[in-house]
Amino acid sequence: MIKRERGDRLYASAKNVLVSGGSASARWNAALKRPLYFKEGKGSRLTDVDGNEIIDMCCSHGGSIMGHKHPAVVKAIQKALDMGILCSYETEYQSELAGKICEMVQSAELCRYTCSGTEATMHAIRLARDFSGKDVILKFEGHFHGYHDYVQYSWAPDLDEAGPYGSPNAVPFASGMPDGLRKYVIVLPFNNIEVLEKTVRKNKDRLAAVILEPINYNIGCVVPDVEYIKALRKITEENEVLLIFDEILSAFRTGPGCAQEYFETVPDLCTIGKCVAGGTPLSIIAGKKEIMEHMAPLGKSTHSGTYTGHLVPVMAANAAVDEIRKPGFYRHIYKIADKLYGGLNEIFSGSKLNIKIQGLGARFGFYFDVKKDIVREYRDCADNNTEMNLKFYELMLERKVYYHDYGGKPCHHGFSIQHTEKDIDEVLDRTEDALKSLEKIYG
Ligand SMILES: Cc1ncc(COP(=O)(O)O)c(C=O)c1O
Repeated sequence: MIKRERGDRLYASAKNVLVSGGSASARWNAALKRPLYFKEGKGSRLTDVDGNEIIDMCCSHGGSIMGHKHPAVVKAIQKALDMGILCSYETEYQSELAGKICEMVQSAELCRYTCSGTEATMHAIRLARDFSGKDVILKFEGHFHGYHDYVQYSWAPDLDEAGPYGSPNAVPFASGMPDGLRKYVIVLPFNNIEVLEKTVRKNKDRLAAVILEPINYNIGCVVPDVEYIKALRKITEENEVLLIFDEILSAFRTGPGCAQEYFETVPDLCTIGKCVAGGTPLSIIAGKKEIMEHMAPLGKSTHSGTYTGHLVPVMAANAAVDEIRKPGFYRHIYKIADKLYGGLNEIFSGSKLNIKIQGLGARFGFYFDVKKDIVREYRDCADNNTEMNLKFYELMLERKVYYHDYGGKPCHHGFSIQHTEKDIDEVLDRTEDALKSLEKIYG
């Protein structure tokens, strides 16, 4: 059983000075009714302040595909420290990293950096609006693009608010967003060519861009039909609407060329984050030269920031990308993926409970008691059993496996390059054990 005393004491004092005792809303752990507090991460494992050694199946919400304390990343950060923690200044390493990204990612002809994925999608949208002279963006239900007001719509709306399937309402998922912004966003169901084509045609004169997660990990793992992605490219091109792949989460998850390589489809702009910088804060906006050159000082679409392209994450990213490019990196990722997804499927198919997983590359999602056999878009998993979902993660945490709970909504989990087959054996054993307890409650 997991020990909790020190963490509970820390929470009792932290909540007096930090909202909800944590640095961000998503740090809340519904099972513990407080954030988890850690003292160390090494490889695939985290040690919390109570000394529990926990297998990390969250991996920093996708930020740590390198695992924790990867020696190449640590060495690169040390070099940045030795250089004086240079902030707001260019060195040779920013362009070195951009050069690697341009080699690896097909749509990347020029790059710029941001600290977070939220900033990256915000600037990519600004750039698309400036380039096209149009204001509206089209996004999909179930897709998440960060925390700024232009995109915080319809990640996981309640169905009674969500509107008709073919023309969903844009449902804000934060309060405090100006109501007037709604007119700048069109929301559509994902994976439906007919609805897409009709809507893009009808709105082409006001539509600056279509933005999407090419692999929709933010509701578990929805891999669109290849024909859909191809049609999306064709329809946007024909109607002079820009296509933005938000690869903050999908970048380097399936291969060194990101989801755009996986689908053999080149967007106009893309955003890359999480995996790229070995667990440090860096995201990238990349795309066609003629669009990127609309950024100031070449154009008028401003993009800057005191900490933008900070040397510490840039050095970490240079090291991470070198590792990602090594032969064998994705062989290991797919070996672990096959073992984990195959093993979980086998365990769940032998259970009287209806639990499914969908996964691709290094990330995956669970679905609890959803009626559809395959989740192809948000509404297919809107009936996810929140209570069973949270209970399962609680039971797994008691067995020292950490899945972040995302409030019991279907969302993404994953592993790193440092996860071993032995780790996965342990996860599978503990899953079988947790499932027995879950069946006693819900069976
Ligand atoms: C697809 C996608 N875009 C944007 C973001 C926002 O990134 P960040 O949390 O770095 O601001 C996320 C974060 O989960 C994401 O998954």
